[in-house]
Amino acid sequence: MNLLDVEGLHVRYAGQAEDAVEGVSFSLAAGETLALVGESGSGKSTTGFAVLGLLPAQAHVRASRLDFAGQALLGASEARLREVRGGGIGMVFQDALSALNPLLSIGEQVAEAVRLHLPVSRAEARQRALGLLRQVRIAEAERRYDDYPHRLSGGMRQRVVIAMALAGEPQMLIADEPTTALDVTIQAQVLRLLADLQAERGLALLLITHDLGVVAEMADRVLVMRHGRALEQREVQALFSAPQHPYTRQLLAACPPLGALP
Ligand SMILES: Nc1ncnc2c1ncn2[C@@H]1O[C@H](COP(=O)(O)OP(=O)(O)O)[C@@H](O)[C@H]1O
Ligand SMILES: [Mg+2]
Repeated sequence: MNLLDVEGLHVRYAGQAEDAVEGVSFSLAAGETLALVGESGSGKSTTGFAVLGLLPAQAHVRASRLDFAGQALLGASEARLREVRGGGIGMVFQDALSALNPLLSIGEQVAEAVRLHLPVSRAEARQRALGLLRQVRIAEAERRYDDYPHRLSGGMRQRVVIAMALAGEPQMLIADEPTTALDVTIQAQVLRLLADLQAERGLALLLITHDLGVVAEMADRVLVMRHGRALEQREVQALFSAPQHPYTRQLLAACPPLGALP
């Protein structure tokens, strides 16, 4: 049973001569990680946003199938989409600083995200928010609850964003370049955290990245995108050991030597 089924996804931005996403298909089951890789501008973020119905109005989206948990997302009401966003699918954006409200403490923001999706009291939302801050391994969560985002390091802020994405108890996460803005050592910690949370919760993960090191570390399957098209879609080991498309070979050749494959 797939959680997400996407078939023949097309996105065209108004005024553009070509589709930003052109006939991309993929599916994702619980517990599974699919990486979307490709250079900047290949249509990765557009694909992720299309799944959540978060593209701007000038984007025209069509697909022969865009289903989450067996229900069509294309043409769904705004109310249903709001339910899916955060409730079914949590979103982790690249830029934690702009994803967070500078005027609210991190604890309040996580608690607000909880209340948006779950029918709980303020007190219970606070307890859940504290629990989430602990789960994303923010040390001394109780004390940090009242801190404002600017008091935290980039890595800690990204942990808060992950806590918010988990607040509605989603079955799936879409993470768009979740560690690109971070230092390499912090990147590794945040990826480890994502992988652990995914395993604990059996989450499906759609991981958008241009970094093949991240793919090798995290993905079960890989979809390589270029100019809006899906070039190949393979198990991660097969992709690294025997890339089929010349462009994939180029990508691999351009990538610094990878550590041990999973
Ligand atoms: N809001 C927008 N309006 C018009 N074109 C856009 C918009 N967002 C992205 N694009 C175009 O769509 C293509 C895919 O972009 P994007 O999905 O952001 O790629 P990626 O995430 O792989 O870097 C690019 O050519 C980009 O210029
Ligand atoms: Mg992008």
